[in-house]
Amino acid sequence: MMKFIPTEEIFKRKGSRSGLPAWAYDNAELTALEIDRIFLRSWLFVAHAAELPRSGDYQCFGMGDERAVVVRDGEGEIRAFYNVCRHRASRVVPEEKGHCGKSFICPFHGWSYNLDGSLRNIPKADSFPELEREQYGLKPLDCEVWHGLIFIRFGGEGASVAQMMAAAEEEVGLYRIEDMECLGESYNLEFDLDWKAVVDVDNEGYHVPVGHPELFDLVGSTYNDQRLEGGLGRSYSSFKDRKFKFQRNRDYVEALPEDSYLPESHRHCWIYWGMYPTFVLTLFPDQIEIYQFFPTGPQQSLMKGKCFALPDERPQMQKARELNQAINAGVGSEDIQLIEWVAEGMRSSAFDGLMLSDLESGVAAFHNALRDELPVLELEQAPAEGSLKQVNQELRAKARVSAAS
Ligand code: FES
Ligand SMILES: [Fe+2]
Repeated sequence: MMKFIPTEEIFKRKGSRSGLPAWAYDNAELTALEIDRIFLRSWLFVAHAAELPRSGDYQCFGMGDERAVVVRDGEGEIRAFYNVCRHRASRVVPEEKGHCGKSFICPFHGWSYNLDGSLRNIPKADSFPELEREQYGLKPLDCEVWHGLIFIRFGGEGASVAQMMAAAEEEVGLYRIEDMECLGESYNLEFDLDWKAVVDVDNEGYHVPVGHPELFDLVGSTYNDQRLEGGLGRSYSSFKDRKFKFQRNRDYVEALPEDSYLPESHRHCWIYWGMYPTFVLTLFPDQIEIYQFFPTGPQQSLMKGKCFALPDERPQMQKARELNQAINAGVGSEDIQLIEWVAEGMRSSAFDGLMLSDLESGVAAFHNALRDELPVLELEQAPAEGSLKQVNQELRAKARVSAAS
């Protein structure tokens, strides 16, 4: 059962119509705090389980100063560990992804670890004082596989992915994501911009009619953003019974095979699910796409994405998939242009804030969630240099006191 948050509710909060203050898009101390308080305490998508088919297959993931490795162990379970050797902190796994056989062997002095993280062997062990070996395994990380999608969490606590995505469960279940395989390689888009400037453009559909003419031709005014409780967003659009001006849209819809495993209700829809902070799962009738945004430093961000689909060799399906990706590549480049223009404007001395419509409530809801975690974002001016973390802590403590009284 989906519980929607009414738009008035989102805009009730003070300042929600005018977005985050301009300084918040260009402040290195804030970026460090966002990595620490948001990204290192949230579920982050790493890979599809199909990307680690055999025991010993692994994939690494980095965020801020933290490094993780996700591996399929000898029993077929997916596990996650800090990719930090217990001897002298080298990376245990140097490559981005690969196969390590039955153990990880640290490239520095050769300490090795079993796939369950336990310490396996220390070269020249007798040169060390007596060690309690059980104390020297790789440190484990929270890891959850939801519909075949592997998420990790470096710290924090709270709801599981399944709990956070509960409202999406029924719909996502229709797509058999756990049976899917990768469609090509992942893409990485780097921006010399604050990550929020990138995410803001993706968090609303108000720009679709003007900013994405081809996408608008495909789905028209059926495009609808919905906010749900628990930091979830859903955007729904349909191309059922529509006529198209763009040839590529006509070709795509025509190419989609009639015979589909999806129920009729989902054969002509493009649906986007978003989980806080920046995970997006896009459900198409021919494939799915997953993407996420990350801060990689001050004024540096990364969008990482990948497509997955059920095995299907039908030429029609292949054609539909290619056309879908071509349409979405067009949408992507339009967004990149918009992101750059907005960022450029925000750096201008003429920029003195923005104004959000009801149709941009996704942007406001996201900003509200950030303000909950980082009340420093309520301030119109940036705190004095070197004090942002401290000011934020004080504001959090104040908020706790007033909530308790
Ligand atoms: S740092 Fe890994 S074996 Fe020495
Ligand atoms: Fe867009």
